[in-house]
Amino acid sequence: MQFDQDVNALPDLYKRAMRSFAGNVSVITVGRGEDRSGLVATSTVSLSVDPAMMLVCVNRGASSWPLFERYRHFGVNSLTPDQQAIAERFSGRGGVKGQDRYALGRWTTAVTGAPLLEDAAVSIDCSIEDMIERETHSILIGRVRAVEIGDPSAALVYWQGSYRPLLAESLSV
Ligand SMILES: Cc1cc2nc3c(=O)[nH]c(=O)nc-3n(C[C@H](O)[C@H](O)[C@H](O)COP(=O)(O)O)c2cc1C
Repeated sequence: MQFDQDVNALPDLYKRAMRSFAGNVSVITVGRGEDRSGLVATSTVSLSVDPAMMLVCVNRGASSWPLFERYRHFGVNSLTPDQQAIAERFSGRGGVKGQDRYALGRWTTAVTGAPLLEDAAVSIDCSIEDMIERETHSILIGRVRAVEIGDPSAALVYWQGSYRPLLAESLSV
């Protein structure tokens, strides 16, 4: 293995490298009523189990960013393969913004008021405890307030620049 030493080439190289990370696809939701938006994210991970805490990295240039500061909550909706169209909506594809991103799917709320997708593989409701700014992004640290577990047989992942289904039945050895 040869390591590239050219610092100027690092961002492009890093971007290509990250394509090989298989990422769980979640829709991160924020806001209430007509004042809601969100984004699709692969940066969502568990911070700790007890206490139950999550984190997600959000670009402060995203159209939904001001809502995280206003509402201090977020919903994590881990998608199933048949929800890819919802992921595409929340990536801003076609210029869809704000509450129009919610035109697909059935949405509800739990404790914080953040929108939660009824048929998601998993939905998690978080209140924001901390926001750590680093360069273009902020790390949102959320305390888990409610959890809903749906269909555990399939997940939607993003790998090598495409959405892919991950099916439990294809994992048997
Ligand atoms: C598969 C995938 C994963 C993404 N993950 C993140 C992420 O973790 N954090 C983030 O800020 N944006 C992420 N984005 C980008 C946002 O979903 C969105 O496209 C971007 O914020 C532009 O949204 P806007 O139209 O609301 O400005 C991801 C996009 C895709 C397609």
